[in-house]
Amino acid sequence: MARGTLNQDHVFYRNPARFYPTVDRGRGVYLYDTDGKRYLDGAGGAALAAIGHGVKDIERAIARQLRKVAFTHGSQFTSEAAVALAGRLVALAPAGLNRAYFVSGGSEAVETAVKLARQYHVDRGQPSRFKVISRWTSYHGNTLGALALSGHTGRRQYYLPLIGHTPHIVPAYCYRCPFGLAPAACALECAADLEKTILYEGPESVSAFIAEPVVGATAGALVPPSGYFRKIREICDRYDVLFIADEVMTGLGRTGKAFAVDHWDVRPDLIAGAKGLGAGYAPIFAVLATEAIHETIRSGRGAFVHGHTYGQNPLACAAAVAVLEYIETRDLIARSAALGPYLLDSLARLNRHEIVGDIRGLGLFAGVEFVRDRASREPFPPEARVNARIAERAFARGLIVYPGGGGADGIRGDHVLIAPPFVITKRQIDALVRLLDEAVADIARETG
Ligand SMILES: Cc1ncc(COP(=O)(O)O)c(C=O)c1O
Repeated sequence: MARGTLNQDHVFYRNPARFYPTVDRGRGVYLYDTDGKRYLDGAGGAALAAIGHGVKDIERAIARQLRKVAFTHGSQFTSEAAVALAGRLVALAPAGLNRAYFVSGGSEAVETAVKLARQYHVDRGQPSRFKVISRWTSYHGNTLGALALSGHTGRRQYYLPLIGHTPHIVPAYCYRCPFGLAPAACALECAADLEKTILYEGPESVSAFIAEPVVGATAGALVPPSGYFRKIREICDRYDVLFIADEVMTGLGRTGKAFAVDHWDVRPDLIAGAKGLGAGYAPIFAVLATEAIHETIRSGRGAFVHGHTYGQNPLACAAAVAVLEYIETRDLIARSAALGPYLLDSLARLNRHEIVGDIRGLGLFAGVEFVRDRASREPFPPEARVNARIAERAFARGLIVYPGGGGADGIRGDHVLIAPPFVITKRQIDALVRLLDEAVADIARETG
């Protein structure tokens, strides 16, 4: 498709009005289009490409599995790849999460975790528990169940009549503290909101609480205060509510630990994750569950009443085994941890632009939030498309970042997310920051 011409091919594009260059190949942190233009993949697609593009080891592992068998249905066979993958994943997970259920997408993983929580309560004789509490300024996926839990007004509003209404609590968003507090005065009021909501809803009706340990798409790498998830865990325990960590973005090294909850030594009952598992080579995600949940279902109904056609398929499992092996042999999680501070320090130069309100992150997962007024933190109006315009200018310069909006109040708020492959070098980080700085300068000029 030529730039500026009407799109005549038959693909139903996400945005039919937009020009999409045709990708040709990926190598390391770079993507190349068919015109030969190079793009630095500063977003890993959408926090996905953990090990970079075009890795031969993964290609070989997929080909090896393909020569044996590509597909078997999860109701008929297990495979060496699925068994190996579950073993590797459990070894990386917080202690006690020792069962892995494989699916093909992040939304599927979230819905699977929600259904596992529900069936667990029914099978242990507490069928009154069904509600799942989530947070505003969160994203858990676009399928209707996951969208119901998501706390992003813009993504929900079209589909509101179709989605269930579930309780949402305030986010842990220090830059825009829901209680108007400065960090020094914080007593984790945002975590206490969970307890209040459980009490309002009736504890005997609540099945689970779900949260992203570091918020990704809706606000750009929101890192909670350090005691937040410990307090959440205590509240969940007090009311017999399961804690589901949505590690779809943060999972597998993105924040510098295998799972982001590891930063605070908190053990969830269920983890939904992770983009880093397939790392772009295969659509594979997993739900990790405690043995207690597995055993309750095994000795209750006997089987999990759920499943998807491509769940646990050998080809995707083999790709993910190879990805995990690649991450482990090259110590890439430690690399994400080590490069995180360098990325944040480098991004600090963006503070020279008045429209930069906050820069934050953990590991190779960073966010830059933009504001119309630095002192009052007033966001831009959504019609100004500040996040999209910055990402477009960066893209034109050959840098991919992941833009998002709605963090401030569901509709207003602009940020870009930066989540490069863990193999990125310091020089490539320098280039990333320089290109982003130029893109921000353009928009700062135009909005100023
Ligand atoms: C935290 C989180 N959960 C769930 C999802 C949904 O994943 P998918 O797009 O694979 O359905 C995403 C996607 O970005 C996500 O960031």
